[in-house]
Amino acid sequence: MPKLTIDGKPIEVPDGTRVIQAARQLGIAIPTMCYIEGLEPFTSCMICQVKNDANGKMIPGCSAPVEEGMKIVTLSEEVKKARKFTLELLFSDHVGDCEAPCHRVCKSHINIPSMIRHILEDDLDGAVEVLREAAGPTNLPCHGCEGTCEPGCRRGKAEAPIAIRDLVSYVHKYGEEKQLFKPEEAAGVKLEKRFNCAIGKLKEGEIDLFVADAYDPKLMGRIEPADPVKGFTAEEAKKEGSRCMHCDCRKAETCSLRDYADLYGVKQREYQPDDRSRHQQIRQHGDIMYEPEKCIKCGLCIRITELKKETLGLTWIGRGFDVTVATPFNAEISTAVTTTAADCVDACPTAALSYFDHHAERKANELRGRIAQMGRGVAGAVAVPVSWGSTALQAVAVQPLLPGAKKAGGCGNGGGCGCGK
Ligand code: SF4
Ligand code: SF4
Ligand code: SF4
Ligand code: FES
Repeated sequence: MPKLTIDGKPIEVPDGTRVIQAARQLGIAIPTMCYIEGLEPFTSCMICQVKNDANGKMIPGCSAPVEEGMKIVTLSEEVKKARKFTLELLFSDHVGDCEAPCHRVCKSHINIPSMIRHILEDDLDGAVEVLREAAGPTNLPCHGCEGTCEPGCRRGKAEAPIAIRDLVSYVHKYGEEKQLFKPEEAAGVKLEKRFNCAIGKLKEGEIDLFVADAYDPKLMGRIEPADPVKGFTAEEAKKEGSRCMHCDCRKAETCSLRDYADLYGVKQREYQPDDRSRHQQIRQHGDIMYEPEKCIKCGLCIRITELKKETLGLTWIGRGFDVTVATPFNAEISTAVTTTAADCVDACPTAALSYFDHHAERKANELRGRIAQMGRGVAGAVAVPVSWGSTALQAVAVQPLLPGAKKAGGCGNGGGCGCGK
């Protein structure tokens, strides 16, 4: 049984144990994206790098077996720097917007597409909640702001920008009438600035992909309130909202790549070439969307479709830097990924695979939030520092698929979380 230390703590584990497994026994977290306990390591993302001080080498914690005399350091400045570098390389060919352009430029940092989705769902209480979570004083509509959001609205590249301020006023008026704002919200809240990947200038034709995401892609032209003093009616607000293209990433709140970018202070464009890849959205499945430029090539989706014995499943095509996840024989994704679609979406550490519908993704987020609360009981999801997010969900999505595993009953954590369900 090799004896080693991890962050100065001694441990003795059986031969063949991997560094990450030994660390977890000590309650030490090593970040992961392509590794899930129970699946063979794939060693592609390298976020799990640790240093063996006994020989001065950096090694992947997820796959390196323990050796006698190792002195593993999981979190030094050198390790953090190596992980930051790895992430910046992953972002060198990553194309996506974590937050929508309007959200980024709004002085109160209102999550405008989320507010609009609530309007479209007839959930005005939810829309007010979005205002209440914003940074500005939410009991004052746009508090004297001259309107930075509308010039930043991407819809303006296709035709006219969304009437964001009228929509905010509409939601705000509802909140006032229902007395949903609290006096202390006059001061606004302090929001932590998060990492934000941004597509930047669009290439020719890319705007069409965004227009296709509007609830009513054919509706052109800005809707103004018939009575400018009273503002939007419910019908006008929904009509105008249905032009919004929902430019925000479907997994903005649950993406592991974004969580780690936050944690390690990543700069998106550190290694990006001048000419980025084209934004692509593959919509060949009724429920899921594939955005290849958000794929970090972790291989989890491919391994899941193999594990679940999909007839076609997913595979790698191409070589070197051009390797990509695809379906065999150019089959449609809906033919190749049948029973495992949700498992693949939940395991995918980024929004490369996401629920097509932002609503479905939001509901999945609720599930992730619930799992996050129970996080410490989720097998293989030990202490992810920023957010349990999809890493916890990966464990839940994949653990029941493993050979010999039974589908967990109750809350889904197989009794391990102690919730009693
Ligand atoms: S996949 Fe993650 S990092 Fe990329 S745009 Fe979406 S949230 Fe941001
Ligand atoms: S289209 Fe919608 S999500 Fe996109 S920038 Fe405009 S308001 Fe924001
Ligand atoms: S699509 Fe998602 S799960 Fe599949 S390899 Fe890419 S990042 Fe991993
Ligand atoms: S290489 Fe270890 S988690 Fe990805």
